Amino acid sequence: MYIIIKKILQSSMSSPNRVRWVFDCENWFPSKNEWSHAFRSIQSEEKERIGRFVFKRDAKSSIIGQLMIMKYLSETACVPWSNIKIKRDTNNKPFIEDCNLNFNVSHDESLVVFAGEKNTSVGVDIMRNHYKGGKSLSEFFRLMHRNFSLKEWDYINNGTEKQKINTFYRFWCLKESYVKAIGTGLTINLRNVCFVPKQDLKKNDFVTDTELYVNNEVMHNWVFHEYLYHDYTITVCLNRNIHPIEFKMLSFNELIYNAEYITEDDENYCNIFMAKENQPK
Ligand SMILES: CC(C)(COP(=O)(O)OP(=O)(O)OC[C@H]1O[C@@H](n2cnc3c(N)ncnc32)[C@H](O)[C@@H]1OP(=O)(O)O)[C@@H](O)C(=O)NCCC(=O)NCCS
Repeated sequence: MYIIIKKILQSSMSSPNRVRWVFDCENWFPSKNEWSHAFRSIQSEEKERIGRFVFKRDAKSSIIGQLMIMKYLSETACVPWSNIKIKRDTNNKPFIEDCNLNFNVSHDESLVVFAGEKNTSVGVDIMRNHYKGGKSLSEFFRLMHRNFSLKEWDYINNGTEKQKINTFYRFWCLKESYVKAIGTGLTINLRNVCFVPKQDLKKNDFVTDTELYVNNEVMHNWVFHEYLYHDYTITVCLNRNIHPIEFKMLSFNELIYNAEYITEDDENYCNIFMAKENQPK
């Protein structure tokens, strides 16, 4: 009981530099006006990139991620929205210069998640615990096998099919959150990034004691906050031992309430978006 109360208190005492947000695109059907509001509030190069998505679903997730970054920086660094300049490094990771605020975004299916932190690298990854590949699960596992150590694979390959899928996504989120925190993305050999869980994930609680080994050496300076959020797994990776905080669901209005326009209106851009299919059939 004491531990549960302590966790609740800690999560409600989060500093404003530390945020966890989630947005559900499933219930967001932007009107032309809303879409215009969203794309006028992000940088022009991001607007162009998002314009190239074939499906609405992907454009929506990506623009929400951009708005989350802008909101976090404008509120936390106290920089006016229109003065923020997000850059991308050589591995495509968004960052801002000369600032100790770090952030990361992930999307899967309808959810977009964001983690913001001060003075610590942060990576976040979300996966829905639901196999959606075109191949059979055994073929998918055969192809993915090379990204895991033997010990990890033993852990994954246990229990019912559903349990295997859930455990697979748990390990995948751990690995991706780490490669996103260090910024390399999937350019490094994931087999050398190994995790040793100490307990199963549970609903309505965090798991924070999973250990990371890189090239067989334990990395005590990296901490993983693992969450089960409805039927999604979310993992936040940090290089500071700091307590986990709850994810807060944002509405579109909360996301843009202090947004400022950065680019001109663009009727054609709006029309192209409105005409797109939501997702592949
Ligand atoms: C980073 C990476 C692991 C993300 O994989 P994913 O599961 O498809 O995507 P997620 O939804 O979890 O995260 C995507 C978000 O992470 C961020 N991101 C992109 N690259 C990143 C990186 N190298 N490190 C950390 N975060 C990154 C972006 O905000 C991105 O959102 P956006 O595409 O809307 O801008 C994968 O894209 C990768 O390995 N990239 C690095 C290698 C690469 O592609 N380099 C290209 C050079 S141009």
